[in-house]
Amino acid sequence: MKKIGINTKQGWDEKWNSIFVHYQQDLRHAYYINAVLDEEDKNILEIAAGSFRDMSRLNELGLDCWGTDYSETAVNLAKQNFPSLQDKIFNGDAFNFSNLQDKQFDVTFHNGFWVLFENDDEIKKLAQEQARITKNKMIVTVHNGHNKDFIRYFDELSKEDDLYKIRFFKKDEIADLMLSVCKSVTVYPVGKGKKYFEDQMINEGKYSRKELKEFFDKIKLKNLEISERLLFIGYL
Ligand SMILES: C[S@@+](CC[C@H](N)C(=O)[O-])C[C@H]1O[C@@H](n2cnc3c(N)ncnc32)[C@H](O)[C@@H]1O
Repeated sequence: MKKIGINTKQGWDEKWNSIFVHYQQDLRHAYYINAVLDEEDKNILEIAAGSFRDMSRLNELGLDCWGTDYSETAVNLAKQNFPSLQDKIFNGDAFNFSNLQDKQFDVTFHNGFWVLFENDDEIKKLAQEQARITKNKMIVTVHNGHNKDFIRYFDELSKEDDLYKIRFFKKDEIADLMLSVCKSVTVYPVGKGKKYFEDQMINEGKYSRKELKEFFDKIKLKNLEISERLLFIGYL
């Protein structure tokens, strides 16, 4: 297994100073999340939000979305960048959300977070804490271990930048981890080079919940090997 690149709070503080602005350019994941929500999903929390781009866009789409990260630099940059959302942005360690109550959020999600952990026992602890604070659905998005080209691309980039030294997952690995706390799990392969399939729909403004959800449900696992990420919904 590849060694994880950035694995300290200080490491992330330094990294966010250099990548926070650049990250705001790619908002696709917020649309994927919006597409898989239901009417009952009123309040949402983004965990390990980093650039807080998803929580910001989801609020623009009319949802009540909060965001948290353990990097104080990321939290401070987010508060400066999204002043109207300051009260919904807070510091928090995903292993222990000591200030959050059981089932406080209808939905919780994160993107590119579990890929930082080599040890499955640590991921199970994260899953338990996420399940504790969630009422309806916990969503987990990771880098797709079925996409060989994408793995090679990250391998190349990781020679110059620790940000790309991460773990990739196959679908059954995450499903098994989530089933330790969820009743059932569904997977959606997402991300097509910012150009094709659902990404093309987003570029063309066809990103309503209905349009994207219909597309995902029609295509199912057909694009498993050409998608950048796997988005899992765990039902609680
Ligand atoms: C790849 S980044 C996530 C990027 C984010 N999804 C986005 O769109 O900007 C991983 C994030 O996990 C955060 N992180 C790592 N360990 C954490 C922990 N124990 N609790 C909370 N956040 C953590 C890091 O600070 C970093 O912001």
